[in-house]
This record gives sequence, C-alpha cells and structure tokens, in this order.
Amino acid sequence: MSLTEPLSLKIEKSTASRINQIDFKNLVFGTVFTDHMFECDFKNGAWQNPTIRPYGPLSIYPSAKVFHYGQAVFEGMKAYKDDKGGVFLFRPLENLKRINKSSKRLAIPEFPEELFFEAMHQLLALDKEWVQPGEGNSLYIRPFVIATENCVSASPSTEYKFMIILSPVNAYYSGKLKVLIAEKYSRAADGGVGYAKAAGNYAAQFYPTNLAKEKGFQQVIWTDANTHESLEEAGTMNVFFRINDTLVTAPTSDRILDGVTRKSLVAIAERIGIPVEVRRVTVSEIVNAAKKGELKEIFGSGTAAVISPVNAFSHQDTLYDLPEISDSYAVRFKKEMLDIQYNRVEDPYGWRYRVV
Ligand SMILES: Cc1ncc(COP(=O)(O)O)c(C=O)c1O
Repeated sequence: MSLTEPLSLKIEKSTASRINQIDFKNLVFGTVFTDHMFECDFKNGAWQNPTIRPYGPLSIYPSAKVFHYGQAVFEGMKAYKDDKGGVFLFRPLENLKRINKSSKRLAIPEFPEELFFEAMHQLLALDKEWVQPGEGNSLYIRPFVIATENCVSASPSTEYKFMIILSPVNAYYSGKLKVLIAEKYSRAADGGVGYAKAAGNYAAQFYPTNLAKEKGFQQVIWTDANTHESLEEAGTMNVFFRINDTLVTAPTSDRILDGVTRKSLVAIAERIGIPVEVRRVTVSEIVNAAKKGELKEIFGSGTAAVISPVNAFSHQDTLYDLPEISDSYAVRFKKEMLDIQYNRVEDPYGWRYRVV
C-alpha cells in the first residue's frame, strides 16, 4: 500500500530524558521503555496524524473493539549498535510485510511502507542513546495495531491505532530448554490464524504452557491439531532439528509463523554448506532419531534470543536427553547472525539496514 499524499510526521520531544535512571546492565525483558513512541490513527478510511511523542499512557474508551474481540496484531524486531555508534535493523521490510499480512487476516487496514520507515528512522534517531553497544544489548522494537472504534458490535473496527514502542534489552539467556511436545492442546489449525502475529494466538498458548511449566518444561513444541504428529513451532520460536548432520525444519503454512530468523538460518545454512531440508518433520522420526543417537540438536529460532538450544524433550511421558556436542550448529548460526546484526562482518545477504 502506498500513500496518496505524503503525511508529515509531527514530533513532540520529551522535556527530560529518563535514560539516567535506567540500570542497563540489569534489564528485565520488556519492562523498560524509551523516552518516545510513535502513533498513527486510522479514521475515515485513511491513516492520519502520524506523531512521535513522549512514551506514556493512552486514553481509550472501554468500548474500543480491541478489548472485546482481540482485533490486534504486533511485531517484534531489534535495533543493534556497532562499535562506532551506528544503529542497524535486521531485515525490517520482512517485519512490515508480516504485520500487514497479519493485519489482512484480522481485517485491519495495512500500514504504508513509507510511513513505517519514516517512523522507524525518526524514532530511533531520537532514542538512539537507548541502544546500548555490546553483544547481547539491543533495543527491542514492538510495532502493533489495535482496534479503537467505540462500539461493541462484533464486526471489524472502523478505527485503529498503529504504534511503535521501544524497550532496551540485555542478552537473552534462556538457559538450556526442556520442552514438551504437544499431545492434547493446539496452537493453530488449518485455515486459522497461526501464521499471523495476532495477539490472541499468544493468549491461547499461556494456559497449556503453564501446565507444561508445572511439569518442569519451559516451552511447548506445538504439533498439528489433527494428528499431533507434525512438529510445527514453539511459543515465540520456529524449531530446527539436526539429525546426524542434516538440519530439518517444518515448512511455513497457515499454521506457522514465517520467522525472519528461521528463513535467515536456512539461507545461511545453504551458503555455508550445511545440509538443510525444509519439510514435514514428524514426532516419530524425531523420537526414533533420539533413540538411535542420531538426533544431535534441537533449537528454537527467533528475534528475542536468536537461537535457543534445547537439551531434552518429552513425548508420551518419556524424556529424551540430547547429547552435549562440540561442533554445535546452534553456536555457529548464532555467531553468523550476531556478526551481521552488530555490523562486525560484511553482509553478503543485504540484511543489515542502517537507521542512524
Ligand atoms: C509464534 C512465533 N514463531 C516464531 C517466531 C520467530 O520469528 P522471528 O524469527 O521473526 O522473530 C515468533 C517471534 O516473532 C513467534 O511469535
């Protein structure tokens, strides 16, 4: 979607920065926000009044449709700082395309590309000091859209708010994960919204994930709703399996989020010569490989942690431990990704995007 007329972005700067009050070494993920935020309203059939203003509360009526029907989508991306103070995004166009794909599925109007990039540039230029240098430090970027029409009829809202908020984060160490393969609950179904970053997809995972946590697992690996035999993805991660030296991951579909990290890892694997297969992965195949000692690694991929290694999984009340290995693909991939994201190497893929 493009703009018919250029919209001028209004900027209202905060009078006093809160940055000196922040302990950047001890951040709890997603709890601290920068000085500014971006907002833009959809009214009378058009996006209007794009504004950057100090981070703060919104005033929204209780009848706003987002509260009743969950008409809301979001994105997750990061900004990284190099040693010279440059600020970079990683494949930001993919996130814009994905939020618009999510919006379409939720009957929300798409957001214009030019405005998205203009907002990103201006906002990150204003809050660039909040992007701390050093591996693991980054600024988590949360664009989202909510339905704001004051009306409780169960139909698409005629008004929306698109926002971007920014949260400084430290390296995300999930530790080694113990995961449970889903046998009863499902995250997504054919024809549903699994491929969208729809707010409700995440709310619906909380209860079954809590049940798994009570049993000592940190994450659930979701399977297809019909047979619980195809391995799909985890809470906020796509999943890779290494059988002997071959990496396998499920193809994206209308049930699986098309992860930016996932597709970047597939491209890196192809470039550096790691055999990779994008195909249906079954539970029995993985259980058999584990029993034969051929299952070398499982890891999740996503913006938050880049790679989260799994060290054990459970299926039908049996726990399968994965071996410690010295030539881990997870370690190799993480380095390849971080080197590109922090501007430490040439970027042969054209993924790095300079904002400041
Ligand atoms: C359900 C789900 N799967 C996978 C991912 C990983 O996607 P990405 O690599 O774009 O962060 C995410 C995170 O955005 C997610 O929410």
